[in-house]
Amino acid sequence: MTNLAVSTAEYRADPLADVASPAVMARGTYNQNAELQASGISKALPHWERAAQKAELGEGSDPVVVADYGCSQGGNSLLPMELAIRNLRRRITQNRAISVFHVDQPLNDFNCLIEVLTTHPKRYSLKEPNVFTQMIGKSFYEQVLPANSVHLGWSSYAAIWLSRVPALIPDHIFPACVTGEARAPFERQAAEDWKRFLAMRARELRPGGRLVVVLPTSPTGGRETFLGFVNVANDALREMEYDGTITAEERRRMILLSYPRRKEELLAPFTRDRQFHGLRVEECEMERSPTPEWLQYHRDGNVRKLAQAQARFFRAVFTPSLAAGLEKEKQVEFADQLEERTMRRLMAEPTVADASVQTIVLAKTTEK
Ligand SMILES: C[S@@+](CC[C@H](N)C(=O)[O-])C[C@H]1O[C@@H](n2cnc3c(N)ncnc32)[C@H](O)[C@@H]1O
Repeated sequence: MTNLAVSTAEYRADPLADVASPAVMARGTYNQNAELQASGISKALPHWERAAQKAELGEGSDPVVVADYGCSQGGNSLLPMELAIRNLRRRITQNRAISVFHVDQPLNDFNCLIEVLTTHPKRYSLKEPNVFTQMIGKSFYEQVLPANSVHLGWSSYAAIWLSRVPALIPDHIFPACVTGEARAPFERQAAEDWKRFLAMRARELRPGGRLVVVLPTSPTGGRETFLGFVNVANDALREMEYDGTITAEERRRMILLSYPRRKEELLAPFTRDRQFHGLRVEECEMERSPTPEWLQYHRDGNVRKLAQAQARFFRAVFTPSLAAGLEKEKQVEFADQLEERTMRRLMAEPTVADASVQTIVLAKTTEK
């Protein structure tokens, strides 16, 4: 594959230490607070199973390769990988091995991932002796696997994270909560990163291979719902600056490098030639739904439980990025306080949260 929009040599991700602090996450925290993502993933699974049924596997005895891009601690990878293996196994003999590669950034909690993959009661290797698991600590904005080697690629709730900080936002932490000039650098970065992500996967996929990317989205272009509790956390941060818990400079530099793309942004690289680096769109669907916590609150009216779940979710997913710019000794105390203050505010004002999800299925064309 030639003619990539950005060559590997030119491309530099920000140093990871500046991007997220693992210190504020206790072991397994992500897995324990990833129900929202799991509910979005459940909507994407029919697309994923179809992709596993359609991906071209060839005749040989080489292992069938499945890649999981942005796996975190692995809890939410178990079901999609099990379903992929089940669908693939129906199409190949027991003698043909299946290799599963889990990819995440070098600072990911790979120890926790290994524990999940080897001891979890629902681990996909339990009933499948001829499945081999590998881990890769490298950014998915780079090529992470050999060219033309991947039959089936999966990525859930990961390509929403940008590769670098294109700008800071005055008085806010989340690009999707702002408009106009404040938002523009993030739109540009998100467009560039998406093309980069696709170009790398296009290199790695075999002809006839399939890639399924699952991303949270903002049905309204991003002013409320999912963003509701991000705004509440932003208010809590303002309070922390006001009472001196954090300095104005620390607050100014805080940013969440997460950008929920609209459908037209996901499809933009494909509009001109109907394909991008040999990838063609097979399906692109959005499914709207409130979060499981919000639905539960409607059933039981337990505002404390709702606020606690939302504040913990925020801590598990977003606080590591916010804490990254603070001195090490301050990070855990900061995370505790932000969680506590966000929760207090959410209890005073129950805030709806959205778990709308977008799934895009891409096929690597077989033409040379
Ligand atoms: C919200 S978690 C998603 C985990 C899991 N796939 C799920 O659906 O629950 C996002 C993961 O993407 C990873 N990630 C973000 N940027 C990345 C990059 N450039 N390369 C590899 N992994 C990345 C993060 O480290 C994190 O573990």
